[in-house]
Amino acid sequence: LDNGLAETPQMGWNSWNFFACNINETVIKETADALISTGLAALGYVYVNIDDCWSAAERNPEGQLVPDPKTFPSGIKALADYVHDKGLKLGIYSDAGIFTCQVRPGSLYHEKEDAELFASWGVDYLKYDNCYNLGIKPEERYPPMRDALNATGRTIFYSLCEWGVDDPALWAGKVGNSWRTTDDINDSWVSMTTIADLNNKWAAYAGPGGWNDPDMLEVGNGGMTYQEYRAHFSIWALMKAPLLIGCDVRNMTAETIELLSNAEVIAVNQDSLGVQGRRVHSSGTDGCKQVWAGPLSGHNLVVALWNRCSKAATVTANWEAIGLESSTGVSVRDLWQHEQVADDAVSSFSSRVDAHDCHMYKFTPNTVSHWEI
Ligand code: DGJ
Repeated sequence: LDNGLAETPQMGWNSWNFFACNINETVIKETADALISTGLAALGYVYVNIDDCWSAAERNPEGQLVPDPKTFPSGIKALADYVHDKGLKLGIYSDAGIFTCQVRPGSLYHEKEDAELFASWGVDYLKYDNCYNLGIKPEERYPPMRDALNATGRTIFYSLCEWGVDDPALWAGKVGNSWRTTDDINDSWVSMTTIADLNNKWAAYAGPGGWNDPDMLEVGNGGMTYQEYRAHFSIWALMKAPLLIGCDVRNMTAETIELLSNAEVIAVNQDSLGVQGRRVHSSGTDGCKQVWAGPLSGHNLVVALWNRCSKAATVTANWEAIGLESSTGVSVRDLWQHEQVADDAVSSFSSRVDAHDCHMYKFTPNTVSHWEI
């Protein structure tokens, strides 16, 4: 969507994966504080996004949405002021149906007044869900909110959460700044890998202004191993997915902070070229030895060696698979070890990778054909 936002994928935090409906204004404020104190905000995680359950069960007599008086007694404007004072941005949630998924009022047929209300509160981001949609096609229900947000005069990031049901990659580029390509993630290896594969299919449709959204991060929620979370974060970064933290950032382990704070991996996600990396090769049982890669600015490449097998394995990237002439010399930087691991690799690069782990590299060709410069 051409609204000046999403030049790179959005980064921040969202309440749903960890808190679900157990949210209140204290949690949101403490999360904003923690994003600052942990250094995550300085790395780019600036959106503080409230998901479902912030609103009361009924609109007020004037027809406006009302923050739940028990959990958000100070209102959303006060929260927006609080996060803005810290240099952060506030996101809110509604639904392109008559109710949200947790049966709070939805915005279908209330797009104009709800967008105006969000803008008046100082909201910077809207996630727009797909429950209770009366069977109307998403292509009809999502553009009215885009137009309503646009008409407010406030620049508001528009995140479509249509779950991939109507192949949004094919039409949402003109509607939103990102669009969910799949059903909800859960905190498991099976869910994460399934979603990565589904999202991969739409790589060609992502770019500055509009991104495929394979759902929020589960890193730090406890259902996967360190290696699996490293793979999750690496592949989401490579796929130019939104990096929306989904754990309790007030209580992160050192390992969680280390994964989410890797500036070199974040730089891949936020690279100015904005091309979604994809799976370029798989081998082994059920294709479990996988190479994912994509171009970066400055003639660099990102290459991930992802071992989805149940045992440690050597995974190899052949230059042919990643689109290089086999004679091209490449310097290779390991983005998790933070060190140069080869100065002039030719034709292929291999690494021994633990089960379910993912190594990630920046490849810099030592020579670039003159017509590419
Ligand atoms: C479904 C969405 O896909 C989730 O991300 C979350 O927003 C829930 N609805 C909230 O009810």
